Amino acid sequence: MTDNNVRRQVLYSGIQPSGRIQLGNYIGAIRNFVLLEKDYDCLFCVVDLHALTIRNLPADLRRQTMELAALYIACGLDPKQSIIYCQSHVPEHAELAWVLNCYTYMGELSRMTQFKDKSSRHKDNINAGLFTYPALMAADILLYQTDLVPVGADQKQHLEITRDIALRINGLYGDVFRVPEPYIPKTTAKIMSLTEPERKMSKSDEEDSFVAILDSPDVIRRKFKRAVTDSLADIRFDPDNQPGVSNLLSILSATSGTGIDALVDELAGRGYGVLKERTAEAVIEQLKPVQDEFARLMKDKAYLADVLKENAGRASVLAQRTLRKLYKKIGLYQP
Ligand code: TRP
Repeated sequence: MTDNNVRRQVLYSGIQPSGRIQLGNYIGAIRNFVLLEKDYDCLFCVVDLHALTIRNLPADLRRQTMELAALYIACGLDPKQSIIYCQSHVPEHAELAWVLNCYTYMGELSRMTQFKDKSSRHKDNINAGLFTYPALMAADILLYQTDLVPVGADQKQHLEITRDIALRINGLYGDVFRVPEPYIPKTTAKIMSLTEPERKMSKSDEEDSFVAILDSPDVIRRKFKRAVTDSLADIRFDPDNQPGVSNLLSILSATSGTGIDALVDELAGRGYGVLKERTAEAVIEQLKPVQDEFARLMKDKAYLADVLKENAGRASVLAQRTLRKLYKKIGLYQP
């Protein structure tokens, strides 16, 4: 965080340490975070408390938390500048979430599509945390007087409820929270599933449908070889009629930096095999520096632990400010 007189806008993002980060997250989100660091005071959180809303093996959760922190750094984010930290290390998140729960209505929470979706997919574990998930997410964002939150379509509703809660409390007690806005990235390459190119690429689908950031070159080649195309035998960018081929072109363009039109010209008359190979190699090349740096960081657990500890301290100082102000305004006696 910079200390000059002009306040830079605060940008906040969180990722759950559950499952693997895939190419769509990388191209659509994390890769662009590096550019945001220049313009905003950024916080990148490993939201481990949110991950408790589904059952994890403790050892998996611990490892995935370390891995996600390492991945943020491996992608080029600077933990001296941005605050890269772990949610459970900053107790103010859970404290604020409780208060926000008391200003959030059952009706609002019942309307959340993510709750409806997750509770229908995990019928055996519809816990209260899953229901109040949005209040914890609102706490993450509001604690830091956040201006901007990069959100994909699936998280828009959560940002909306965050704004509603902030406005409600500000309305009752005067300005406590800055009301955050969505940050819509300029480049929006949407990465689709390799096996069902009508659907968004997702780590919760079958293994061959997505590329994980940490997949080896061989696995990446195999997945692209198996990617679904069509029988038109013509390389064109036409997502409606040729979703598979168009998705490969999008991925190739996003990873090679060459525009889609130029790629279509260049590959005209070539087979889909060539397109798949070219795309696989571009992805491998793009991910290589990230994978190398990730491997190096994972060997240096002491460094990662230090970074997380120091950054939790930086986050806590900011979070305390907001929490103290709120406690005072709502009438919690503070000696
Ligand atoms: N709910 C987000 C997701 O599942 C993760 C998240 C938690 C988050 N807290 C956040 C995202 C704060 C942005 C800001 O993707």
